[in-house]
Amino acid sequence: MQYVYIVIIGLHVMAGVFWAGTTVTLARDPEIKAERFIQPQMGASGMVFLTGALLWYFFHGAYFGSMEMVLALGIVAAFAAAGVLGAMVAGSSRRLAGADAATEIHLRARMARGERISAWLLVVTVLCMATARMI
Ligand code: HEM
Repeated sequence: MQYVYIVIIGLHVMAGVFWAGTTVTLARDPEIKAERFIQPQMGASGMVFLTGALLWYFFHGAYFGSMEMVLALGIVAAFAAAGVLGAMVAGSSRRLAGADAATEIHLRARMARGERISAWLLVVTVLCMATARMI
């Protein structure tokens, strides 16, 4: 059974690092074309939620102590980050095709704002995930 946990936590951390890492990078440099990353980012977030739910089921179940409170705060921030990415980046990137220059500037500004908001939310998530065990 041990190897199942190892695979799940490995997938969880790898997908989380990709999701948070690309979001912070895109938030720092709006020149990078965010539309090239949004699908892998949303895919990674799906993997993070799936494996995170399994980890919760395996290691925490119905127990809700101080560690679970910190994890829950991180999970809420991750949900918000995924919602912001979906609404502000995925939505705008779909409208990019065929947009005129003025609309493209507006859409890219909205996508950059979305990446910045998500990046801060994911900073909260990563801090909660990394410290929950110690609290
Ligand atoms: C960017 C997003 C995320 C990153 C980088 C991340 C990273 C991590 C890391 C590094 C750990 C190991 C902590 C430790 O063992 O001390 C962890 C644990 C955990 N994560 Fe996440 N996580 C993310 C999002 C989520 C989400 C969205 C959920 C739930 C749906 C979740 C659920 C959990 C649970 C339940 C644990 C505890 C596992 C245990 O008790 O050993 N995580 N996460």
